Amino acid sequence: MSPFLLTRTLPLDATDAALRADVLDGLTRKPKSLPPKWFYDAHGSDLFEEITRLEEYYPTRAEREILRARAGDIAAASGARTLVELGSGSSEKTRYLLDALPDLHTYVPVDVSESALTNAAEALPAERPGLAVHALIADFTQTLELPDTPGPRLVAFLGGTLGNLLPGERAEFLRDLRARLSPGDSLLLGTDLVKDEATLVAAYDDAAGVTAAFNKNVLSVVDRELGADFELDDFDHVALWDAEHEWIEMRLRARRALTVKIPELDLVVPFEAGEELRTEISAKFREEGVRRELAVAGLRLDEWWTDTAGRFALSLSTAR
Ligand SMILES: C[S@@+](CC[C@H](N)C(=O)[O-])C[C@H]1O[C@@H](n2cnc3c(N)ncnc32)[C@H](O)[C@@H]1O
Repeated sequence: MSPFLLTRTLPLDATDAALRADVLDGLTRKPKSLPPKWFYDAHGSDLFEEITRLEEYYPTRAEREILRARAGDIAAASGARTLVELGSGSSEKTRYLLDALPDLHTYVPVDVSESALTNAAEALPAERPGLAVHALIADFTQTLELPDTPGPRLVAFLGGTLGNLLPGERAEFLRDLRARLSPGDSLLLGTDLVKDEATLVAAYDDAAGVTAAFNKNVLSVVDRELGADFELDDFDHVALWDAEHEWIEMRLRARRALTVKIPELDLVVPFEAGEELRTEISAKFREEGVRRELAVAGLRLDEWWTDTAGRFALSLSTAR
């Protein structure tokens, strides 16, 4: 049996302190907002997996199609001995890369969701004897302490998750990531592409209401962790396309005027009827924009692949 190691780089109380700081800041500003990482407790991670199987949610299928077709090219170009995956979730699509990299030494899945990491990473050693799996519970927007493993490294950031960061946060994230790479290391980046509004909105507002439940789950997390009294039925799920910024926004809209008590923060939060709380942005990209953002961070885009319907892109870039 090959080794499986789970490391928590954030102490438990750091997660707690970060949630408190984000809720205090986000619910006292106008307009109100919360960072999307707080969706992903065990229930939120399960709901996200359900989303990936929805008819309306094309990104997972599109990215899988590209990975299936290009895993061999990615393996040959990167020559990776270590695969680091940021926001790895279920690692389901990652199997295409693992299969194409028979000489891979270590796989390092990184996620804030402990349940997603344990579910995904515990299965891998059995599937892939000889592969070391070093799972990291960590926030990829903080400085990452990556294990000392053989290079070259391939960093995979799939699922369009980069689009959940605001433009300034994206630039900082890419710059910090580049600083952690050595010449010859590469980045495999999944980006969802700008397309017609109806397709985009449907992907974030499915008929079965799974995305609505995922969106509201952030309120359950704040209720459980901080003793708040959010009632999920007091809020409607909203998904809209912001054409100026070219991003989808998910929001929760108060159905009536109400106040929410958050005893752990000694805070009372008023909502007006119809007031919205932003819970996620999901930026959609164009090739030139991705190329430019990578270049600013010191990464050279070498390959740009899309699915046959042109909905989603995978790019491979190298540290200059
Ligand atoms: C949109 S899902 C994508 C999951 C998977 N990569 C895929 O392509 O299906 C985002 C994943 O990133 C994780 N995540 C979100 N914010 C994070 C953060 N700041 N640091 C680490 N992981 C994060 C979530 O727990 C979730 O597993």
